[in-house]
Amino acid sequence: MTRQRLGVCYYPEHWPQSRWSEDAAMMKGIGLSFVRIGEFAWSRLEPNEGAYRFEWLSRAVDTLHRAGLKVVLGTPTATPPKWLVDKMPEMAALDADGRPRKFGSRRHYCFSHEGYAQECDRIVEHLARAFGGHPAVAAWQTDNEYGCHDTVLSYSLAALQAFRRWCEAKYRSIETLNEAWGNVFWSMEYRRFDAIELPNLTVTEANPSLLLDFQRFSSDQVVAFNRRQARIIRRHAPDATILHNFMGAFVDFDHYALSDDLDIAAWDSYPLGFLERSSRDDTFKLRYMRVGDPDFQAFHHDLYRACGRGRWQVMEQQPGPVNWAPWNPAPAKGAVRLWTFEAFAAGAEAVSYFRWRQAPFAQEQMHEGLLLPNAAPSEAYDDIARISKELDALNAHVETAHAPVALIFDYESAWAWRIEPQGQDFSYFDLVMCFYRALRRAGLSVDVVPPTAAAIADRRLIIIPALFAPSHDFAEALAKSGATVLLGPRTGSKTADFQIPAELPPGILRSVIDIRVRRVESLRPGVRITLSGQGAFMRWREFLAFGESVAPVLVSEDGETALARSDNVFYLAGWPDEELLRSVLRRVFVVAGISTLDLPEDIRVRDNGAMRYIFNYGATTDISALVEEETLLIGEPILEPCGVAAFRRAPIAEFFEVS
Ligand code: GAL
Repeated sequence: MTRQRLGVCYYPEHWPQSRWSEDAAMMKGIGLSFVRIGEFAWSRLEPNEGAYRFEWLSRAVDTLHRAGLKVVLGTPTATPPKWLVDKMPEMAALDADGRPRKFGSRRHYCFSHEGYAQECDRIVEHLARAFGGHPAVAAWQTDNEYGCHDTVLSYSLAALQAFRRWCEAKYRSIETLNEAWGNVFWSMEYRRFDAIELPNLTVTEANPSLLLDFQRFSSDQVVAFNRRQARIIRRHAPDATILHNFMGAFVDFDHYALSDDLDIAAWDSYPLGFLERSSRDDTFKLRYMRVGDPDFQAFHHDLYRACGRGRWQVMEQQPGPVNWAPWNPAPAKGAVRLWTFEAFAAGAEAVSYFRWRQAPFAQEQMHEGLLLPNAAPSEAYDDIARISKELDALNAHVETAHAPVALIFDYESAWAWRIEPQGQDFSYFDLVMCFYRALRRAGLSVDVVPPTAAAIADRRLIIIPALFAPSHDFAEALAKSGATVLLGPRTGSKTADFQIPAELPPGILRSVIDIRVRRVESLRPGVRITLSGQGAFMRWREFLAFGESVAPVLVSEDGETALARSDNVFYLAGWPDEELLRSVLRRVFVVAGISTLDLPEDIRVRDNGAMRYIFNYGATTDISALVEEETLLIGEPILEPCGVAAFRRAPIAEFFEVS
């Protein structure tokens, strides 16, 4: 079993070499065990074409090694140096207006540019050869945050040519493509693959089928770009762990697919920055401004655990104010510890803080680190020393269990509803979060999973909001699963080609519940379709017809079925407010035989194997009803703000019977 560890992100190239050994000793001193370095250092690794300068990096790695630290080495391909951009200016991505995304920050490259991909092969090859056998280099990070700053889609010539090839490989004949895209509409038919256009600069909206295929293609390009690096690294460091650092609330490529080439999925968790940037209202943002959304981090922990097939970690954890959100408050006292334990509770192998020392120069000078610019410890420094002692005392190991509840999260659905929201505020991500929140409020530990047959095997309850186009395999597995199923609005409402299914939505999912969606409507803010005393639909609602095997369970005041049921399958015909979702889930839990916890509003619970963790995102709360005092390993029955409690629970079989 893997021991849970702490780490930090470090930029030795930003500081004099004379400082490195002191930094390393301090890192070790507060209980860190690994350091990520190198991911933006191309201009120092190869200042001129072919003139490699790896000595400084060797010295940095050796210094960390001597201090007893392991290294995660980043490939520097997120920041191609100026000489390279000057050599091949057409490597830049073009935005939807056809303008190049220029040198001067980062991620200034197009995933489809073969010349740039070859340059990446070359630098990665040299690095992997030089450091692949180094005893301190335990893991490799490919690039940095693929897609950050809106960089997945590119409308360059390279992208156009590659997209045409992609379409030809997928459809084989142009007639098949025309049929799949419905190109007879508005005379959009193509006669040849090499006549296909990218979906930008059109007069009005482009064809949704084309938009979706372009998104699929762009996602495939990211996956292929990453795969090249992973293969090179594996050749030179067959035992190394390969990871990538993904982001929060980010859906621009298929993270499950990319993770197939990784050993560990990592993500970068900035709770306060993400909250400020989210679509939550001001009341919510004010309330949680110093602790973050109580469910946002946990959702991503659960998602990336699925991406990494059980193996995941936080690569960048916010330790203080950041520089990039609209407002950048300081974390509450104890919040960094709270976030760290949330990650460990969800089975993280490691949590690593961003960054070691605040840089007094360039773009991120307002981003705090564990050290201030003058090398004095920041507020988070002592927190981390405490966390690492607690981790030692807990002897915390990864022991994640298979949760009885699975929540489906699907990248294609996120793309589909972004392409065709139908209501301005219909966000797939936000809808999935509503369900996740409600499950967590009920004290349940959830697995967030892709829509595949394997992912839903052996579940007691499967929740599926707005799944765009389920595959036949998935529909079949669902029909046979025996689990209780809750289908949310828009599920099965299109075919994979982005067309309405011949028999109306939910298309092939009529094999699990015999309903038809006859009409949908989207609702402007403020409109509520009420159900007497049970909450309301907002944003979206559907009008159902159904067969004899289906019964209405909840009906709106205007007489439409809001929740339909056939045996152990439920269909929810709209976007529920909190009250309605609670009432729906109450019914669903009973059928699934899952009991829940009655949690105070700001308290959250997470089970990790035999360990149960309790987190407090609000004011001091009495949690004695949730714990047996004598079994507490950390925390108190009166849990302070940002408090964490952990204890080992009795037999694991009791996992299903939560309360
Ligand atoms: C991440 C990125 C880091 C740094 C950090 C600042 O998105 O990977 O390089 O920019 O944000 O919060």
